Amino acid sequence: MTKINQFSKYANEYKNHNIIQQIAAKSLIRELKSKPKRILELGIGSGQVYNNIDWEYDFYKGIDASKQMCELHPKSSKDEIVCLDFDSQEFYENIKNDKFDIVLSSSALQWSKDLSKVIEKLKDISNEINACLFTSNTFKTIQEISNTRSPILTLDSIKEAFDKHFVCEYEIYQYKLEFENKKELFDYIKKSGVSGENSLDFKTAKKLYKEYPLNYLEFEVIFVKTVSKV
Ligand SMILES: C[S@@+](CC[C@H](N)C(=O)[O-])C[C@H]1O[C@@H](n2cnc3c(N)ncnc32)[C@H](O)[C@@H]1O
Repeated sequence: MTKINQFSKYANEYKNHNIIQQIAAKSLIRELKSKPKRILELGIGSGQVYNNIDWEYDFYKGIDASKQMCELHPKSSKDEIVCLDFDSQEFYENIKNDKFDIVLSSSALQWSKDLSKVIEKLKDISNEINACLFTSNTFKTIQEISNTRSPILTLDSIKEAFDKHFVCEYEIYQYKLEFENKKELFDYIKKSGVSGENSLDFKTAKKLYKEYPLNYLEFEVIFVKTVSKV
């Protein structure tokens, strides 16, 4: 299963399995220093960021690679929703003649195959990026027990990609999400949209279910605010 398929498969249920994404999206908007008029958002999902935009803007462009997510996302006459992969040449072509006051992205850019390249392209069309990304320390104990590696970017690689093109401020948050039982806990991982395509073989999954010592899931999120271009 590819990452995009996973988001799509659970697109309808996703709203109930994205508590951390909701918190992150809310914080991202709350911490903005201005009320930008022209907004580009990458990895829009079902509208967690959009739903927190409570000021009058002129234009909003939302990008997501999942057709189902693009269909779920709310849309007004000032909005353009485009179904594109933010790592693709088509995306770069689509935005290259635009100018935006800000680029926003919440819980999405950790899937980029070349984050530095995305940021380099964004540098040409905006002076400001505010984003939050899950890091590979998400579900850390699960990776340790199952001897697997996270499919998402590490904290250092995220910082390295941004530092190449912008002077940035970073804040790192660790969230713990508690569950009443293991079944709910493991169910949540699959539907959360941050677990990726790695599926465990039966033996490892059984070991994990038996040995997981916590009644919570671990998430790590990095908030990035660009200050100036390098
Ligand atoms: C975890 S969801 C977050 C959605 C929303 N921003 C939120 O805060 O709830 C990640 C979103 O990024 C999208 N996505 C992942 N990789 C992408 C890519 N390469 N290009 C465009 N969208 C992508 C997925 O389809 C999904 O909608």
